[in-house]
Amino acid sequence: MTTDLQKAAVDVRENAHAPYSNFKVGAAIRGQSGAIYAGCNVENVAYPQGTCAEAGAIAAMVAAGEKILTEVYVVAGSEMPVTPCGGCRQKLAEFGAGDVVVTMATTGGVEQVSTLGALLPGAFGPAHMEG
Ligand code: THU
Repeated sequence: MTTDLQKAAVDVRENAHAPYSNFKVGAAIRGQSGAIYAGCNVENVAYPQGTCAEAGAIAAMVAAGEKILTEVYVVAGSEMPVTPCGGCRQKLAEFGAGDVVVTMATTGGVEQVSTLGALLPGAFGPAHMEG
């Protein structure tokens, strides 16, 4: 069964700008309102300036006025489901609780399900800045 979140991630992946890696990624996140925000990776000839799909989806959510995400779906055309990079795990944790379900997928239909907490154990958070 194709979910709305999966479809959004698969569709936005088509728009990825990935001429350097040839690795297109799509991400979709659900905000607390139920709305879906999608993002794709946007690479740059100055390689470090490229951005991940997850970062694009988060930016769309925040731009729309939402600050809490409840579900994440990431998809790539690889054999193995793509997992968010370390930086994106931290970015997602800024707006999502540890029990938020993260589905990592391939365009071929393989899915791996985890949570934000499992993907980023011991995450640095606001509590670490107290005192
Ligand atoms: N990439 C993402 O957009 N999300 C991920 O979860 C993993 C990696 C992108 C970054 C770069 O454009 C390409 O995939 C290869 O690393």
